[in-house]
Amino acid sequence: MKIELSDKLRSFKPFLFEELYRKERAERAKGKDIISLAVGDPDIPTDSEIVGCAVREVKNGRNHRYPNTKGNENLRKEVSAWHKRRFGLNFHQSDEVSILIGSKEGIAHLPFVVMNQGDYCLIPDPTYPTYRTGVVLAGGRIHDVPLLEKNGFLPDLARIPQKIVDRTKLFFLNYPNNPTGAGATLEFYKDLVKWGRKNGVVLAQDAAYAEIYFDKPAPSLLQVQGARDIAVEFYSSSKTYCMAGWRVGWVVGNSQLVCALNQLKENIDSGPFNAIQNAVAHALKHHERIVPPIREKFKQRALDFCAVLRAAGWQFPDPKGSCFVWARPPVKCASLEAVYFMLDKISVLTAPGSGFGKYGEGYVRFSLTEPDHMLKEAAKRIKLLDWSLLK
Ligand SMILES: Cc1ncc(COP(=O)(O)O)c(C=O)c1O
Repeated sequence: MKIELSDKLRSFKPFLFEELYRKERAERAKGKDIISLAVGDPDIPTDSEIVGCAVREVKNGRNHRYPNTKGNENLRKEVSAWHKRRFGLNFHQSDEVSILIGSKEGIAHLPFVVMNQGDYCLIPDPTYPTYRTGVVLAGGRIHDVPLLEKNGFLPDLARIPQKIVDRTKLFFLNYPNNPTGAGATLEFYKDLVKWGRKNGVVLAQDAAYAEIYFDKPAPSLLQVQGARDIAVEFYSSSKTYCMAGWRVGWVVGNSQLVCALNQLKENIDSGPFNAIQNAVAHALKHHERIVPPIREKFKQRALDFCAVLRAAGWQFPDPKGSCFVWARPPVKCASLEAVYFMLDKISVLTAPGSGFGKYGEGYVRFSLTEPDHMLKEAAKRIKLLDWSLLK
């Protein structure tokens, strides 16, 4: 018997990055020597002291009981202390901080907290795909906000139609940005907060790449006066500490939103394993030792890779942060055409810009989360690729 799946489920396309993993496996099965720069999954192993801490914590029977959905006190205390050191911001650990099973989980659940059927959510285009998930499940509507190269991949707030704004509850943003590598300034955040307060729109800034910046430290939206009245920020241990597989993130900011998200989650999950939460607390405590070499590694990779791409005729602004390079190929073509051409001719798999939204068309995203020797080999192949063969 064929089970009839729900309309909601059928409205979802396969998650872009799962599709890319499948493509990679299929090509390898054909015996091809594939280098995949398609997904952002850090190759750098988690710091050995964090791993050592986790091993000790796993052996502690107290950690074998249910965790608390909003996260244990040890981790929430370290999250608060880190935001104080990094941004000079005080967050009350009981109602302005909540731990997530990866920031992806909190991002997908937030729309349920503020949106009713038919309300609008503003989503950048191109975008990380999970912003759409919760909005679709909550029965909300999406208005795509273009991120254009000529605007430094920042949204042009004045161009969002007022009749949409009037029906908008939530705006997802993400800086440093995936996929474009763009950064946001505190000046932009000031304008954004003013706009959000005027229009009664909740701001959800995804700061998953906040620590992977190449020039000046990335600011926090919550540094803007009054931001806490309308905004939350999502943080992740995945890229910051190269702990993607451990699945821990957090949300900070407006206490009503943080508590409401936690209230929803109490009905869905029970939070991450306490042993892992304590390992992330250790990471935060030792941030200043662990993170600079990771940041330096991604910066050096971006510098080296961008130099090769530029010499090979690719066009792009230099990334300000993140693990990605977002570039237009040497000849004008559709994103998918470029991706399949590179896969076919040089066995390098990349992510098509069009997969991130219609304004991503014409771009290709390179992820610099593979070991240096693989990136060098990919760069060598890209340098030799003859684009005149693209029919
Ligand atoms: C922009 C952005 N936000 C959030 C996430 C999810 O991160 P986490 O591993 O914390 O769920 C990712 C992961 O790739 C991302 O690129």
